Amino acid sequence: MAIVAPASELIVAPDTEVDTPMLVVSEEILRRNIDEMAAFAAGVGVSLRPHIKTHKTAQIARLQMAAGAVGITCAKVGEAEVMVDQAGIADVLLAYPTIGEPKVRRLVALMERATVKVAVDSLEAADMLSRSMTRHDRTLDVVLEVNTGQNRSGVTVGAEAEAMALQIARLPNLRLTGIMTHEGHANSAPPDEMETIAIAAGEAMVATAEAIRSHGIALPTVSVGSTPAARITPTVRGITEMRPGTYVFNDNSAFRYGTIGVDRCAARFVATIVSRPAPDRCVLDTGSKSLAMDPSRAHPGHGYIVGHPDVRIVKLSEEHAVCSLPDETDGFEISDRVEIIPNHICPTVNLMNELFIVRDGAIVDTWQVAARGMVR
Ligand SMILES: Cc1ncc(COP(=O)(O)O)c(C=O)c1O
Repeated sequence: MAIVAPASELIVAPDTEVDTPMLVVSEEILRRNIDEMAAFAAGVGVSLRPHIKTHKTAQIARLQMAAGAVGITCAKVGEAEVMVDQAGIADVLLAYPTIGEPKVRRLVALMERATVKVAVDSLEAADMLSRSMTRHDRTLDVVLEVNTGQNRSGVTVGAEAEAMALQIARLPNLRLTGIMTHEGHANSAPPDEMETIAIAAGEAMVATAEAIRSHGIALPTVSVGSTPAARITPTVRGITEMRPGTYVFNDNSAFRYGTIGVDRCAARFVATIVSRPAPDRCVLDTGSKSLAMDPSRAHPGHGYIVGHPDVRIVKLSEEHAVCSLPDETDGFEISDRVEIIPNHICPTVNLMNELFIVRDGAIVDTWQVAARGMVR
């Protein structure tokens, strides 16, 4: 077995025996990513509420809290249940529409164990939550999800958001405490336009919050959240909270911003060459069931092979990753091993039962991805 990359770029030492495919995490890079984002948030005076959908792991949520996070962001009630019960998190924002009686019942139960805020982007959802909370004799904090250009969920920033905020604020047993947006669209534009788009999103949020406050609603929270724009949007005066998620690990898509390199990618997929059927082709023991199928936002193919920008993962089936090898490529013989930076780390993590934690090149711990598959 040989390792086909410069040792300095790898996180698992070449002499470490591993059973692949496996997702490994450099404790050192992870902690650095967590600490630097916490220091940035403190420096610009905004609260950090990281989105845990990236790691779904209790140990990492605890590291984020220890670094100064005020609470966490989850999409699904199931993620929040795991984080409250297994990581001891006391403050959760559900930044996703929580619709339907079964979920509301679980939400009410969760409210016994933690402070929970819920995003809404429709009067239907707000009304349903208001009636449920009245029935359960509870009051729920809600934040209005606002669309600043991503065109996913969220009510349009400005007058539409203002009007809906006023209606929600009148509903019994709900307390409108803020507005939130996911300015993910900043990363869809060419990188040199990201700053302008992120600042515009932040300013539109602050103006909308001011308009809502002019009606006598306190609205303490103006929340933004995205890793690509994490160093930009929160600098807009009036933003109070940021919710980046992907920053803990980073991935091949993060290379696109131009500020993140391999040395900031904490999570790597370790795979072994299991077939070399042609001089210009090899097969790795990973595929869509472990590496995930998300398209590349930066380096082409299905991931970035550390130390080998010229080798491309051209095709994935469930358990095969087919690589094209340029002429003169050294190594990539059967039983050689590579580290891959996935295109999009969040779905990759969600396919794994565990993360293997690496310190000084050695695997020192195994952390369960406790909220994997928690999509309800
Ligand atoms: C509502 C919301 N907030 C925050 C984030 C975090 O963004 P990123 O993955 O860029 O860190 C996401 C990502 O999907 C999101 O959907």
